[in-house]
Amino acid sequence: MEITSLILNNNTEPADKKSFNKNSNDKRVYIETYGCQMNYSDTEIVLSVLSDFGYNETSDINNTDVILLNTCSIREHAEHKVYKRLDDLKKYKKSNPNLIIGILGCMAERLRDDLLSKRKIVDVIVGPDEYRKVPHLIDNVIETGEKGIAVKLSRVETYDDITPLRREGVTAWISIMRGCDKFCTFCVVPFTRGRERSRSLINIVEESVRLYEEGVRDIWLLGQNVNSYKFGDNDFADLLRQVALAVPGMRVRYTTSHPYDLSMKLLETMAEHNNICNYIHLPLQSGSDRVLKSMNRLYSVEQYLNVMKKSREMMPDVGLSTDIISCFPGETEDDHKMTMDVIREVRYDGAYTFVYSPRENTKAIYMKDDIDEDTKTRRLDEIITLQRKISVEINSELVGKTKKVLIESLSRKSDEFYMARTDCNKSVIIPAQTGHVNDSGELIMKKTYKIGDLLNVKISKANSATLFGEAV
Ligand code: 5AD
Ligand code: SF4
Repeated sequence: MEITSLILNNNTEPADKKSFNKNSNDKRVYIETYGCQMNYSDTEIVLSVLSDFGYNETSDINNTDVILLNTCSIREHAEHKVYKRLDDLKKYKKSNPNLIIGILGCMAERLRDDLLSKRKIVDVIVGPDEYRKVPHLIDNVIETGEKGIAVKLSRVETYDDITPLRREGVTAWISIMRGCDKFCTFCVVPFTRGRERSRSLINIVEESVRLYEEGVRDIWLLGQNVNSYKFGDNDFADLLRQVALAVPGMRVRYTTSHPYDLSMKLLETMAEHNNICNYIHLPLQSGSDRVLKSMNRLYSVEQYLNVMKKSREMMPDVGLSTDIISCFPGETEDDHKMTMDVIREVRYDGAYTFVYSPRENTKAIYMKDDIDEDTKTRRLDEIITLQRKISVEINSELVGKTKKVLIESLSRKSDEFYMARTDCNKSVIIPAQTGHVNDSGELIMKKTYKIGDLLNVKISKANSATLFGEAV
């Protein structure tokens, strides 16, 4: 059984779901995205490429010419979700035999023609470095009925010249590098996304400026390992500094980092610039040196803790989160306890926790995985329970305090509330309007806020994932 769990409310979807189109035409495309932020960012690139060829995005799956699934292979569970979805899609193809179904992303790269032969309803398969071909492959199916596949990985493709077709909102992703050269022994990413390559620094800075002019107030610089960013003589800290200076009114964040590459220079840069958010997501994976070695993570627990300590010294308010893989092959009860100890020592604000999932091509698949299912369930549960307790404690300490937040969107649960975010990445739910009842019992509205406002909020309530408060 594959078990995954998310303890951090890290919804970074843009505020408004409305999309816009560059060209108008009658070809419609419906796209669903699975997996990491990188995939969401890639979907915006695919939509941009398609838009140049007259395709308009639709949110109506019942009235579309093309359905695309942008997929994830990181764990078996992620792939199962897509297989299940493909089964659901049969009914759409049945009622519209001309409907074209395409698989993009990591599953396309990993499974290739296998997917085409085993899933008859799939017409088009496109890997992460071949998105420029998506419109041609679709058009070819329309014209000839021939299925199409493009899955070559590239050493140079960064889509640097493509302006992603973003949804409106005050948050935006900017992909700064692609691929990964780390080859952690459990991870399929180096095989599905290929070698590391970085976009031009100047183009990223210019894109940040353009986004600011368009109303964006919070950007995430994205990469599988942003700390490996390299363009000419510039490293990631240089890029972050340049972006922070170019758009001083923008909140700048990044994800995700590898502890081996996270430099003091980067921490100094973060501490130096007010608009670089005090938030670090630093995957630990395991608190045991023996397991880290077997994962090929290239750092020791001591080195990792040192980075955490330094970041807290330099940014006392810093928000810290992590990824943890429980039950990697050979993990003993002692190894598990060491992971729990690190969680207690660091006191993360949140953690993404997973049970190890064997992936084809990786080295770990050949390692003996003899941990029984009950133990897997128990260890993951212990990690989740511990982290949740710590998150509640940390968040409860914020009750009564005032924090500066950026309003990102309406709350998912009610239009009467906004979802805002602190600098250190905590979501705060606030009423969309404030008011008071006067002596005659009338409700007098004092102020209405809007998406994009930066305001001070007094925290009144907290749980493990969310804070609640009111503007002061
Ligand atoms: N099994 C479980 N979790 C995994 N991750 C990556 N590969 C696997 C795997 N095979 C987790 C790691 C990584 C996050 C994105 O997904 O914790 O940091
Ligand atoms: Fe996968 Fe490791 Fe690369 Fe992250 S650093 S994408 S876990 S190989």
